[in-house]
Amino acid sequence: MTASANLIDNHRHILVALDAADEAVRDVARGHRSLAFFENLREFIDVYADGAHYEKEDHMFAAVMAQAAPAAGPVACLDMEHHATRGQHDRLAAALEAIRKGNNDAWFDVVDATTRYVTIIRIHLPKENAGFFPMADMVLPAHIQADLVARYEEIDGKLPMSFADAAAGLQQQVRKKPVAAPAPAGRPMPSRFVDRFTLYDDRLGVALDLLGDVGRG
Ligand SMILES: [Fe+2]
Ligand SMILES: [Fe+2]
Repeated sequence: MTASANLIDNHRHILVALDAADEAVRDVARGHRSLAFFENLREFIDVYADGAHYEKEDHMFAAVMAQAAPAAGPVACLDMEHHATRGQHDRLAAALEAIRKGNNDAWFDVVDATTRYVTIIRIHLPKENAGFFPMADMVLPAHIQADLVARYEEIDGKLPMSFADAAAGLQQQVRKKPVAAPAPAGRPMPSRFVDRFTLYDDRLGVALDLLGDVGRG
């Protein structure tokens, strides 16, 4: 397996985790909040997606720039997105901590940070799959590819489980929920949410109101 193939395989499993995250966000909007799921999602982001995967990509970025200096531009763009997702991870972690201390208003930040995280990653992965990785495959000599693969095996070997198993765990967890998660009904859409959320699901504004959102932005 080449270094790029290893990273593309990670992406496949990260997308499984993102689908689970999207489903959990929809569940929150429908009144089912699973702190345990979001705790595990945060850990997946920290250890796998923004942890081991970014560590592996940092090695590739450095190797490619050493071979082709103009790659610094694309690397800066990808790096910016890595920083952006780490920022959303930190917001998610802070919100979960606040909820553990009894502040249920922080559920808004859980939904907001998770949605922003997922959105950035869905934009980020295709740039790597279709742009940066093919370029890396063209410019990296075989001995540097081999060195990267060895580093990746070392990084993967330190993980508690494989990317596949970690992502599948999130997928299974989000599917375990009350059979009939109640959709908030019988309440009018709060006017301050109408423009922002009806496009996606007109129950979301009602759900956020029930969660105690206090009129952000
Ligand atoms: Fe990346
Ligand atoms: Fe990536």
